[in-house]
Amino acid sequence: MRNLLINQILEDGYAVLDDFLTPEEVTELLEAGQNLHKDAPKEERKVFSTVNATSTQSKDRYFLESGDKVRYFFEEGAIGENGELQVDPSVALNKVGHALHIDHPTFSAITCSNRVKEVCWQLGFQKPAVAQSMYIFKNPGVGGEVKSHQDATYLYTEPTSTIGFWIPLEDATLQNGCLHFIKGSHRSGVHRRYIRNPDESSDELLIYDRPAPLYPQSNFTAVPVSAGSLVLIHSQAVHRSDANRSDRSRHAYTFHVIETENCEYAKDNWLQPPEDRPFPVLYERD
Ligand code: FE2
Repeated sequence: MRNLLINQILEDGYAVLDDFLTPEEVTELLEAGQNLHKDAPKEERKVFSTVNATSTQSKDRYFLESGDKVRYFFEEGAIGENGELQVDPSVALNKVGHALHIDHPTFSAITCSNRVKEVCWQLGFQKPAVAQSMYIFKNPGVGGEVKSHQDATYLYTEPTSTIGFWIPLEDATLQNGCLHFIKGSHRSGVHRRYIRNPDESSDELLIYDRPAPLYPQSNFTAVPVSAGSLVLIHSQAVHRSDANRSDRSRHAYTFHVIETENCEYAKDNWLQPPEDRPFPVLYERD
């Protein structure tokens, strides 16, 4: 008989575990996240956008090569025409990714903790590995929306295996941009993929293989959760978050786990591990 966690993900496409982190751990991660901007580059600031596939990030190796590094992506509204900051540095970042789980001791400790391994075990992973991690800021005033998407669009495996771990470090509310899901959408296949462009003559390094589907906004269910909760996200669950319309930030730490036993990580996914630095494996089931 399947356990409750798997049942809920199979039913809805996501599951919420309250109080996954202790208040002390939440504070520790939040402080580490609040300090990340101090190491952000002062020149050639890169903007992050999930809206436009042909935006500069697609042409930019800074994003493409961020898989095994800690790199800094700014909010569109935080950077002026000449790359100058329009807001205080502490609220200018959109996200930092994609190797905090490898290179930052605080985030690495949580990602590779026994609690995370236990969840993977409960989900039935044989040989789970962490493909990427991100610190998401969603700061007040500049924290933009994240358009409706499936995580499998970005991290595709055959068969489907990717599970997103999403941990708010501040209460995620309707006002500050909590997650919204289409319940049951994980049973509708993978709607499009974001891949390395096979056309090497193109200056677009990364492309979507199909246009974005239209998802009726009335189909979404808001999922407000408290700081320290864990939201588990099926790779095919359609989800989004609104812009932060409150006067408070909505920081979150997130990472993605994939199966590496009898499961193929797509060679054309945007994120590819360097040969000498494979995705870190959390455990191997006998
Ligand atoms: Fe996502």
